Amino acid sequence: MSAKADVVEERGVATAPSESVPESARRRVFSGMQPSGTPHIGNYLGAIKHWVAQQVFYDNVFCIVDLHALSLPTDPAALRQNTIGLATALLAAGIDPNQSIVFVQSDVREHAELCWLLNSVTQFGELRRMTQFKDKAGGQDEAVSAALFDYPVLQAADILLYDTELVPVGDDQRQHVELTRDIATRFNARYGETFVVPKADIKPEGARIMALDDPTAKMSKSAASQNGVISLTDDADTIRRKIRRSVTDSGSDVVSGPGKPALTNLLTIYALLGDDTVSALEERYAGKGYGAFKSDLGEAVVAALAPIQRRLGELQSEPEHVATVLATGADRARTRASAKMAQVRDRMGLGLGT
Ligand code: AMP
Ligand code: TRP
Repeated sequence: MSAKADVVEERGVATAPSESVPESARRRVFSGMQPSGTPHIGNYLGAIKHWVAQQVFYDNVFCIVDLHALSLPTDPAALRQNTIGLATALLAAGIDPNQSIVFVQSDVREHAELCWLLNSVTQFGELRRMTQFKDKAGGQDEAVSAALFDYPVLQAADILLYDTELVPVGDDQRQHVELTRDIATRFNARYGETFVVPKADIKPEGARIMALDDPTAKMSKSAASQNGVISLTDDADTIRRKIRRSVTDSGSDVVSGPGKPALTNLLTIYALLGDDTVSALEERYAGKGYGAFKSDLGEAVVAALAPIQRRLGELQSEPEHVATVLATGADRARTRASAKMAQVRDRMGLGLGT
């Protein structure tokens, strides 16, 4: 039986009743991001932007999931650098450590521990059906790590440790949140009410930003070519060049819709980074052709990323500040996670209570 993904899909940012809700009564949000490279505008528009916009309404936990990154071959020095880089980028994008807990997953040992316990209530067949595993394994099931296969259970542990109600993610994570709901429901039925059953919070706009050089593939940190990916750290000329060279659809009209995957993607990016709707942009560029549109889009992306990049530069010169935020975040996360683990161990009959 599958607990149907109860997906919260709403326009706008405010999905909580009011900013005046006391902290203790705020709904709990958890989300994570892998330190597998520099975050890009897909990560920003599908996830980070919503985390930032909504953080005032919720009790938020944001996690840099370095244990998940180990599911693919990883260089230790690069992993540590990417972890710090991602933390810095999240703070630069507006995650406020006074509103949100920000921490590194491996600093809180309970994530790995709960993953193992949840493995015992997860079915092999459920994991085999995960499309992200199939995509990442690329048909090489025999050669990939067991961690890649088990990845969704670690993600379920992340979410369930914190009594999470809402999981703001891009569309590619829908199936993992659905599995988390199934695992939580099954655990609760077997051992008694222990976990909150979470909901995915997927905004329809920006949930799936596509690569600029291939609008049928999702923009991804691990893409073979960086031409299709605008990273949050790309300089202005690189951004302009990537957009100028982006793939377009047949014809010359700046319109979105079925059969126009490339322009739909570019218009979506433009609308989400600026203040205009897709239809206002279609009207503005009617009869003007791709050249003028791409040139303005390039400037819009440069302008939207400029404040983030400015702040990034400042934070890069204060690495102690970032380290302190992560240490404080880990302490706060650990307090919550260890209380939850004590309850889980007890329910499952583990240990002798020491
Ligand atoms: P990852 O980079 O895979 O760790 O993803 C971190 C977050 O960004 C998740 O919430 C993803 O769903 C989201 N995300 C990743 N790629 C995209 C994309 N191309 N479009 C929209 N959201 C994305
Ligand atoms: N699997 C997510 C991704 O690739 C990252 C992630 C790990 C996550 N744990 C999570 C997202 C918990 C939301 C909640 O994007």
